[in-house]
Amino acid sequence: MNIPFIDLKAQIKSIRNEIDEVINQVIDNTDFINGKFNKIFCENFAKFIDVKHCIGVGNGTDGLEIALTALGIKPNDEVIVPANSFIATSEAVSNVGAKVVFVDCFENLYTINTDLIEKKITSNTKAIIPVHLHGQPAKMDEIIAIAKKYKLYIVEDCAQAHGAKYKNKNIGTLGDMAVFSFYPGKNLGAFGDGGAIVTNNDKLALKAQMIANHGRTDKYNHQFEGKNSRLDNLQAAILNTKLKHLNEWNYKRQTCANHYKTLLKDIPQIKLPGLIDNISHVYHLFVIRAVNRDNLIKFLKDNGISTGIHYPIGLPFLEAYSYLNHKNKDFPITYQYQTEILSLPIYPELEKHKIQYIVDNIKEFYKHN
Ligand SMILES: Cc1ncc(COP(=O)(O)O)c(C=O)c1O
Repeated sequence: MNIPFIDLKAQIKSIRNEIDEVINQVIDNTDFINGKFNKIFCENFAKFIDVKHCIGVGNGTDGLEIALTALGIKPNDEVIVPANSFIATSEAVSNVGAKVVFVDCFENLYTINTDLIEKKITSNTKAIIPVHLHGQPAKMDEIIAIAKKYKLYIVEDCAQAHGAKYKNKNIGTLGDMAVFSFYPGKNLGAFGDGGAIVTNNDKLALKAQMIANHGRTDKYNHQFEGKNSRLDNLQAAILNTKLKHLNEWNYKRQTCANHYKTLLKDIPQIKLPGLIDNISHVYHLFVIRAVNRDNLIKFLKDNGISTGIHYPIGLPFLEAYSYLNHKNKDFPITYQYQTEILSLPIYPELEKHKIQYIVDNIKEFYKHN
């Protein structure tokens, strides 16, 4: 049996007619930039997240950078980010000229360890970017308390957690601003790059909107130099169509995750992802920690099962951050992840019998290793 890590074709097949129809509408109306669907999607996504403003942008990385700029983050400011994330989180900080300050993660949750944040705060610290990694909200009560105490901004990185909830509130409503990515493999994915910034703050919304669109509100009346980072109208049309299915798709991901957990729970060589109380995890990824991980990956591959590692090198250990001179012992959990973490296939269309096949193969591997 062949099981891909992600199967976008299966999802597209299920909504192909709806998608073809809206793509044709955009083309027939040559409505490509800041068009009708962009407006409709942003309104619908704001409603979905339960937030006042949604600004479509070119991608999640730009979204983070624009949010930080809108908040006035500038050179010499410090911004706290988790050591375990995709590079976009820290890249955005560097791209606005600020200093990246990494914090290690909670071992079984994978999200930023809120007990370690205060030690990293200095008089230059201006913001925290919690990442709701793999679809699980970061510990936001603790982060909000720290941000209040030290007067820091919070920019939620929601790239992996569309529709996740923290204590009955949607992620994306818990900080000053929040950013989503619509990269094709995300829980809500476009057919190319796309992203959105959401906020309840009118001033920040206007600022972000202007930065993303050449510093203007009127066609040629530019109040400052911004950039060109707009959500493409074709992508907005696709996202607007897919948004209607997101809750159902997230539910199916949760069902897959629960099935994995039931089947994997008695394998001593496997550690399952932890859950915090009172949240809804939307399982963008299902990440376990596995003894003898690299050989397990090979065994699964030989049996037709594709897996992933998110991420093989922790951010502080990337060459890109060698100038910070971090040592392995500075981020022991992120360092440990590098040899243990393993992302198993998860997507709404993944059938139960395929999960069973994956688990059977994991069991077979550990019989001999
Ligand atoms: C945690 C995280 N932040 C930010 C991004 C950046 O999003 P994009 O690829 O749309 O720029 C991603 C996307 O992969 C991500 O996983």
